[in-house]
Amino acid sequence: MLTRRQLLAGAAVFSSSTAASFALTGFRAGAREVIGHPIATGAKSVAFDLAERPTALPCFNGKTLPLWTFQEGALFPIVRMKLGERLKTRFKNDLPRPGEHASIHWHGLRIPNREDGVPYMTQQPIDPGQEGSYDFTPPDTGSFFFHTHCNSAEHFGRGLIGALIIEGDEIAPPDAEYVLMMKDWRVSPEGTFLPFSTDDGAAKAGTSGTIRSVNGETKPVIKVPSSADVRIRFYNVDPVRISEIGFEGCEAAIIAVDGNGLNPLPLESWRMGPAMRLDILLRTAPEGGTVRLMDFFSKIPVVLAEFKSEGPAKRSGKFTATPLKVMPYEKVNVSAAERIPFEFSATATGAAVAALSQTSSGIYIGSLCLANRTFWAINKQAWPAMDHRNLGPPLAVLKSGQSYIFELINRTPHSHPIHIHGHTFEVLNSNRRHLPPFRADTVLLLPKERIEVGLVAGEPGKWMFHCHILEHQEAGMMGYITVV
Ligand code: C2O
Ligand code: CU
Repeated sequence: MLTRRQLLAGAAVFSSSTAASFALTGFRAGAREVIGHPIATGAKSVAFDLAERPTALPCFNGKTLPLWTFQEGALFPIVRMKLGERLKTRFKNDLPRPGEHASIHWHGLRIPNREDGVPYMTQQPIDPGQEGSYDFTPPDTGSFFFHTHCNSAEHFGRGLIGALIIEGDEIAPPDAEYVLMMKDWRVSPEGTFLPFSTDDGAAKAGTSGTIRSVNGETKPVIKVPSSADVRIRFYNVDPVRISEIGFEGCEAAIIAVDGNGLNPLPLESWRMGPAMRLDILLRTAPEGGTVRLMDFFSKIPVVLAEFKSEGPAKRSGKFTATPLKVMPYEKVNVSAAERIPFEFSATATGAAVAALSQTSSGIYIGSLCLANRTFWAINKQAWPAMDHRNLGPPLAVLKSGQSYIFELINRTPHSHPIHIHGHTFEVLNSNRRHLPPFRADTVLLLPKERIEVGLVAGEPGKWMFHCHILEHQEAGMMGYITVV
């Protein structure tokens, strides 16, 4: 029989090892929970090794592609933590190409600027063969992700993406949870990658993939408990795709946008550009039934995944979505806010900048994290005009703690998912559609649309502000905002 002392000792061990929550939950074909090492109660250490790993993709008939991934065995690794835990990351850059430096950006997290992972801006990039590290405590719950921040069209194109989930927002736990990462792959029938970026794509809506997938599979069939309330963390991690997400065959509610809880909204459909996330609660079908995750963006809707119900019913009552706990944040003071317009436009010409950059500073073009042509600008400034040794001025200078309204004005016939680092926007209004109130770190600007967003300037530093269609970002639609 165990003594009380042994019981207590056992309980202590149990709680320190579960503190970092390594539970394997949900659907993991292609997206796998990372097994971290508990380094102390309330902290977690995760090691990444960025490398080329030939991987058989189910959506590509099991044919092997030279993917770039963060870890062995995980197409999209998932790091799962509890709010309040500290994350220590070490990573080695083992990417196969000379000069292919890397850093890790933690998309959507309000963490100190020095941990933001933008080469030259917030840290020196890590060269192949070298190691880097990050150390921060995520301040918010939610569905976030991480990726590199240079040559991103190729890095995303090869799969170098992971999810970071901060738990602690559930008042009523769902019956199950699933993480879904939507991404296309640009491959030839012979099984090689096609160019990740093209002038035509970069100058228009982006260079699309040739095969669609969710977690690396075509239309996966996911087994779910019957008549259950399940949480879906849906990620659009494609470099270019705009989609219109909805479900067929069930009741569903949006419970968070970009990780930010909101008053549950019945989900008809929700338009999502690259980098945008949606947390959904839905009631699965009765036993034997199927619910379909759809993309309604194109004329012929596409089935992205199916949820097939198995086993005894979990619930019988009416479906109601309990709201998530919303993280405390400073509300934007709209009447006192300073207004700043940002115009997103095409540049007059697809100016070639390679020669300029090389002759003016003697740096290899790849070190600037830009394409060799520029097609886009924010307030008439195109990112390639600046390099890290000769940074242009910020797009704006904000004072920490003060409220601002950004007027995002799209002068182009294309959609642009506009993302700010280290902050979230309160989306206030659009001149083209009715938007419910929500917070987001990436806001989709439709063609010719004008959206007003509010924010309270956060941590001091240089924060990137860019389109998350990666070819647009690399072809000029990027700048930075200084918070003092
Ligand atoms: Cu997903 Cu500059 O970020
Ligand atoms: Cu864009």
